[in-house]
Amino acid sequence: MKNLDGKVALVTGSGRGIGQSIALKLASHGARIVINDLDLEPAQETAELIRKMGGEAAVCHGNVSAPDFAERYVKTAMDHFKGIDIIVNNAGFTWDNVIQKMTDEQWYAIMDCHMTAPFRILRAAYPAISAAAKAEAAEGREVFRKIVNISSVSGLNGNAGQVNYSGAKAGVAGMTRALAREWGRFKVNVNAVAFGFIETRMTVATADAGATVNIDGRDIRVGINPEAAKTFAQRNPLGRPGTTEEAAGAVYLLCTPESNYISGQTIAVAGSPQ
Ligand SMILES: NC(=O)c1ccc[n+]([C@@H]2O[C@H](COP(=O)([O-])OP(=O)(O)OC[C@H]3O[C@@H](n4cnc5c(N)ncnc54)[C@H](O)[C@@H]3O)[C@@H](O)[C@H]2O)c1
Repeated sequence: MKNLDGKVALVTGSGRGIGQSIALKLASHGARIVINDLDLEPAQETAELIRKMGGEAAVCHGNVSAPDFAERYVKTAMDHFKGIDIIVNNAGFTWDNVIQKMTDEQWYAIMDCHMTAPFRILRAAYPAISAAAKAEAAEGREVFRKIVNISSVSGLNGNAGQVNYSGAKAGVAGMTRALAREWGRFKVNVNAVAFGFIETRMTVATADAGATVNIDGRDIRVGINPEAAKTFAQRNPLGRPGTTEEAAGAVYLLCTPESNYISGQTIAVAGSPQ
């Protein structure tokens, strides 16, 4: 018997990077995964990797910021697997600039992806989660469900050049605390993890990065300032950036029965105190 056998987990942005590692990790412990990504091919690749492991996966392709996305995503989960046990709001990108140069478009693109999309997904999941929890309570059973919202140390400490991203990721922590209070009665643990520097295409030095994220027809370059990339890793007490597997491990902990009495917390996963 695996720890997450029979559970249904929705993981946004699971075509690459941390999201892919989370999807694979949860699947390796028995969960069935509802994959999402902006890009169809990487999403299908993750689903294929899960099937090769003997697991089950469904794909709901698209931009989490689209107004109809949340309903579509929840419907995919219900159509394929008839329930929702875990939601990991992971999809994200950065679009940095100092405040005097940051446009409204930049501000709202980041708010839409990191704050509004998780809000809508969680709202859309309410009917399925509350109905299941009420039925379980009527049978005298306590079944825990898990929400893990992905935040960032930029949201905890602030990061120059990221008023949009730092604001949105701090907002994720606030939303997490509020929903933990609302959904405790349904036995839902709502937590967040705030990652430090995890090696993905998002944190590759821009000079080396060829990739872009296409949001509403506009290509946004991924990667960070090369100097920042170097100093983040050097200053870390553990002496290196985190891996996506280490990031996924922390999310997995918050999806296990061992974490049933942890709720409303934002846990830094950064190799150092924050
Ligand atoms: N890498 C880090 O150091 C770090 C640190 C703190 C927080 N985070 C957060 O972790 C999450 C994952 O980042 P990552 O480093 O794995 O990046 P990544 O670029 O490697 O992977 C992100 C995935 O999400 C998808 N995606 C992006 N925007 C999307 C959207 N609007 N709709 C659907 N899919 C979308 C991308 O296509 C990509 O496959 C993000 O929320 C990010 O803010 C990362």
